[in-house]
Amino acid sequence: MVKICCIGAGYVGGPTMAVMALKCPEIEVAVVDISEPRINAWNSDRLPIYEPGLDDVVKQCRGKNLFFSTDVEKHVFESDIVFVSVNTPTKTQGLGAGKAADLTYWESAARMIADVSKSSKIVVEKSTVPVRTAEAIEKILIHNSKGIEFQILSNPEFLAEGTAIKDLYNPDRVLIGGRDTAAGQKAIEALKAVYAHWVPVEQIICTNLWSAELSKLAANAFLAQRISSVNAMSALCEATGADVTQVAHAVGTDSRIGPKFLNASVGFGGSCFQKDILNLIYICECNGLPEAANYWKQVIKVNDYQKIRFANRVVSSMFNTVSGKKIAILGFAFKKDTGDTRETPAIDVCNRLVADKAKLRIYDPQVLEEQIRKDLSMARFDWDHAVPLQQIKAEGISEQVEVVSDAYEATKDAHGLCVLTEWDEFKSLDFKKIFDHMQKPAFVFDGRNVVDAVKLREIGFIVYSIGKPLDSWLKDMPAVA
Ligand code: NAI
Repeated sequence: MVKICCIGAGYVGGPTMAVMALKCPEIEVAVVDISEPRINAWNSDRLPIYEPGLDDVVKQCRGKNLFFSTDVEKHVFESDIVFVSVNTPTKTQGLGAGKAADLTYWESAARMIADVSKSSKIVVEKSTVPVRTAEAIEKILIHNSKGIEFQILSNPEFLAEGTAIKDLYNPDRVLIGGRDTAAGQKAIEALKAVYAHWVPVEQIICTNLWSAELSKLAANAFLAQRISSVNAMSALCEATGADVTQVAHAVGTDSRIGPKFLNASVGFGGSCFQKDILNLIYICECNGLPEAANYWKQVIKVNDYQKIRFANRVVSSMFNTVSGKKIAILGFAFKKDTGDTRETPAIDVCNRLVADKAKLRIYDPQVLEEQIRKDLSMARFDWDHAVPLQQIKAEGISEQVEVVSDAYEATKDAHGLCVLTEWDEFKSLDFKKIFDHMQKPAFVFDGRNVVDAVKLREIGFIVYSIGKPLDSWLKDMPAVA
């Protein structure tokens, strides 16, 4: 029986391995992690992450051919293929701080693999890593190998949170990079055979190691760039009376451009886009390519601009002050159908409003109060960020922020409400009821274009929707970012 072990039971390792176990019943899959609470949660009825369809997949395989364990060394020792799916955050200190990927977790996993292995193994980079990381990993493994053969493959993950299970069942492609040697090609074939259980072989792309590593960074940079492009356009739409949804539709029907990822919003978030672009920028700079680096920097700057622009719009619309005013925040996760808050635009918007002394009442269907408080108190690295984001302090968070358990409670007596995540339930709220219990004038700031602005205006709200023709109230109240 082929044995697979995955180091790192996070948003990628957990769902990816659960689907692999489901689709390959004759393979034993162990997902290991140094975090005991995380593994305990994977072995319980309340999984550590929320992802539609995940519970069902885990229930079908757990205890049969899918195991979650903290006994990292035992499972690595026993396995033929070791996936490494540990976190690769942005470095916060030292050389490359604020840009380069921190490979500490990766290196310690690689050293441990070398230490405990007594048989040859294929080691698969599942984490997103800087291009040429495989070379460093190879050196660590080979110099500590005691004669054992290791083949390194790059197999970046393209799943999107919120649709992870669907994406894993039907990936657009699976990408496998390996060495151009006989042993390298044999390792590629072995991993290809695993995916071929459910992915058509013509969708399994095989490349050299460096192309696979760089393709993942490139894909995330292209996706984020589309969002920043449409967001930059949204500011111009507001200034000119154009409607960003109509513009995006007209642009997206060009088959060379395509319609996806053209929704204007308060900004992109998630653990990957910013981190991976920063990493790409760093790699460009290290390779003496400042123009290429500056191009990608702009994608992040526009994202910061969009978050600040939104928060400033809230303040300027409400007579330039939100001091002591109650503002309901609907949605805190970085997108719908996930409880993940890493780099969510809600953090920046809320911090900005708190800095202006607003009182926030926050509701999100999946994010726990503890997480929200932690996110709003955390110091953030401020590489090249716009000045207003750098100066924000966590003081006053506990008195100024309340976390509640539904949207009606959040909006009661509020002066304004901000939609920051596109949860479906926000589309069908009873806005008449909400209007009746809010202070007047009642403001709605829709950072995701989910509410029906026409209907809300009929009810009596003053509505701001990103990139849409401005409410007459807002026209004379410009928000300078
Ligand atoms: P995560 O933070 O949810 O999970 C990483 C896990 O690795 C943690 O549970 C941590 O305890 C564990 N870990 C760290 N060092 C370890 C060690 N030495 N031994 C055992 N366990 C260890 O991270 P996530 O979101 O799963 O991301 C993992 C990688 O996948 C990152 O490189 C990320 O960029 C990439 N990725 C993430 C996607 C996402 O949507 N979250 C999508 C595609 C790629």
